[in-house]
Amino acid sequence: MDVLLGLQWGDEGKGKVVDVLAARYGVVARFQGGPNAGHSLEMEGKRYVLHTIPSGVFRPGAVNIIGNGVVIDPIIFREEVSMLEAAGIDLHSSLYISRKAHLILPSHRALDAATEQAKGKDRVGSTLKGIGPTYMDKTGRNGLRVGDTELPDFKARYQALRDKHCGILAQYPTEVDFAQHEEEWFKGVECLREYQLADTEVMVNGYLDRGESVLAEGAQGTMLDIDFGSYPFVTSSSTVCAGACIGLGVAPARVGRVYGIFKAYCTRVGAGPFPTELHDATGELLREAGHEFGATTGRPRRCGWLDLVALRYAIMLNGVTDLIMTKADVLSGFDAVRVATRYLLHSGETRTLPYTLDSDLQPLYDECPGWQTPNASTYGELPGNLQHYVAYLERETGVPISMISVGPDRSQTIER
Ligand code: IMP
Repeated sequence: MDVLLGLQWGDEGKGKVVDVLAARYGVVARFQGGPNAGHSLEMEGKRYVLHTIPSGVFRPGAVNIIGNGVVIDPIIFREEVSMLEAAGIDLHSSLYISRKAHLILPSHRALDAATEQAKGKDRVGSTLKGIGPTYMDKTGRNGLRVGDTELPDFKARYQALRDKHCGILAQYPTEVDFAQHEEEWFKGVECLREYQLADTEVMVNGYLDRGESVLAEGAQGTMLDIDFGSYPFVTSSSTVCAGACIGLGVAPARVGRVYGIFKAYCTRVGAGPFPTELHDATGELLREAGHEFGATTGRPRRCGWLDLVALRYAIMLNGVTDLIMTKADVLSGFDAVRVATRYLLHSGETRTLPYTLDSDLQPLYDECPGWQTPNASTYGELPGNLQHYVAYLERETGVPISMISVGPDRSQTIER
């Protein structure tokens, strides 16, 4: 099983790259996260955003799996399958959903909203899709799972959990009304049950036993990982490579290549430390040129230079074998581009990520000569300075960059 994941704070362009790579895999499987993700894919002038469904769905013949590590909101799932059906894609025979994946209830979303509001200025900047409360119920052993929808007392189980949530919500000053979403939610559950619910861990291992190729698709990014990200400004799942083993039920020894995706610069959406953030016209330029607005929430993304301290840390955690750089076209038109290689702290300089990324940390930069918009279909046709940037990053990280994306379309992908 190969794994593809983000090395920064999410939004690295995973959707597009999975779509490109999916042609080489028989199976594409999501292993964590939920509708907080927004994987964008563009083809033939049309843009699609996937939240829960793997990005392999546009490749005919591929099997798509939503693994046990994913959390599913049936309302959003139903909207997503209708969007795909309208695009002529029927998933009834190619999509499998883990019975062990947890369900996001309308009351989880209400809890997300109430707890974020109560945090005031310390809020995480959650997408408010109910992700945190759902994973809390999972680890707290209270959650409802997809397989529970097949049980005769499912409705009673739903009501018991909802009532528990209402008790918690009563402690918050603002009332969040979710009753109007319940009908839609149950319609979503009916829709979910029209698809193939399965013990996907057995399926995935079976595919691997038969020599089929499986691609595990990560969501969010390493710096948002629950353990290793910039805690508490993180999501609630394991976004690192090890999360693919847990989230699909695959043994670590079965992991092959690990594709680590990063943007040629950095972005972050939501609150939390971001050492190389640009608060000036350059940051604004990157935001506009890169259309850096959240695919799920529409929020403007914070933009900054590439951060090698964080990137090296992410490569180490994931055991990355292949780097994939995206948005090299966006980082064009500059006389010079900057890359943070170390941080200056009170205690001196460091090349490794410190425990806290507090605001008086100062990134120290290298400068590389800039390039003009690349209009190329082979590596050799890329502007010389972009090729130098690639070679510089390979030297700094010790990992080959095997793919470079120079635009949102499938066709704007250069392999080496
Ligand atoms: P949550 O996962 O919705 O609770 O959000 C927690 C943090 O992760 C917030 O800062 C979000 O902006 C961020 N986040 C969650 N999902 C994504 C994503 O898919 N891309 C980028 N940031 C995300």
